[in-house]
Amino acid sequence: MSGLNPYIQQPEYTLPQKNYRITFLPEGKTVEVVPGELRIQWDGLPGSILRTALDAGLDLDHSCGGVCACSTCHVIVREGGESCNDATEDEEDMLDLAPGLTAQSRLGCQCVPNGSQDLVVEIPAWNRNLVSEGH
Ligand code: FES
Repeated sequence: MSGLNPYIQQPEYTLPQKNYRITFLPEGKTVEVVPGELRIQWDGLPGSILRTALDAGLDLDHSCGGVCACSTCHVIVREGGESCNDATEDEEDMLDLAPGLTAQSRLGCQCVPNGSQDLVVEIPAWNRNLVSEGH
């Protein structure tokens, strides 16, 4: 499954207009995000943290295909969360199902940075053994 979920409120977001960086923890891998140049064009909202992670070869789990119907893409936005779109009620409902929920938790497929700040994003421990590079 991928694309849009017709059963949820569609999130509002602003795509970045300039380059910015996301550092993924615990690997410490920093990715330069160039607007319009993500190769991944599916799984999650355009410009989402999930798409950026997948584009960088980080295999962040996303069981529902990025349509806000699971919580396996749970990430913790340690820095730069102010530059991301607001979570919808549907996203918050799904996050309630995620283990290890924090005030900075987001669904990677629904969280879209606007590029005004660099981000530090932690992939929680229960997803770490799924992370691999170069798939
Ligand atoms: S991949 Fe299922 S909610 Fe993000």
